[in-house]
Amino acid sequence: MEEGDLSQVAEIERSIFTMPWSRQAFLGSLRLAHTLYMVAELKGRVVGYCGCYQLLEEAEITNVAVEEAFRGKGIAFRMLKVLMEAGERQGAFAYTLEVRASNQGAIHLYEKLGFQSFGIRKNFYEKPVEDAVIMWRHWQAVWETP
Ligand SMILES: CC(C)(COP(=O)(O)OP(=O)(O)OC[C@H]1O[C@@H](n2cnc3c(N)ncnc32)[C@H](O)[C@@H]1OP(=O)(O)O)[C@@H](O)C(=O)NCCC(=O)NCCS
Repeated sequence: MEEGDLSQVAEIERSIFTMPWSRQAFLGSLRLAHTLYMVAELKGRVVGYCGCYQLLEEAEITNVAVEEAFRGKGIAFRMLKVLMEAGERQGAFAYTLEVRASNQGAIHLYEKLGFQSFGIRKNFYEKPVEDAVIMWRHWQAVWETP
């Protein structure tokens, strides 16, 4: 993800989430030394993005989204694999994330990538209020994920 991608990223973000990150929030994260942000592009157009914050050997995945018209094609799966491969090269070997308990599609995606549920954070989300499922992926070589 580069600064020039941010208008498209923020537009996709607004079209999906009830509490979207602003362009400024993405820019701030992008500029931090311990973050990694990626976009998926088709013919020069941003169709998805993801990113994480690294703390020593662990990283928290903070954003995952694919534009609606491009879902179900394996874009999120490949994007997250590339993100975690890049993270491993920087020494991040365990990944965590939170996901809305009702977001079965995303939970399935993360399970396919080797994540497991480790607990619930009660009423974590707003608009609407909902529990978060906390997931972790402990070290396994990313390239071994089928
Ligand atoms: C979740 C999201 C990123 C998935 O993107 P995607 O590019 O469609 O996902 P992929 O095509 O890479 O799917 C990978 C796997 O996850 C599964 N999956 C993805 N979305 C699914 C859904 N809605 N229902 C069931 N399974 C789903 C796929 O079926 C696939 O597994 P399979 O090969 O066994 O079929 C996308 O639906 C999205 O942007 N949703 C809105 C934002 C969001 O919820 N982000 C996550 C916040 S934690």
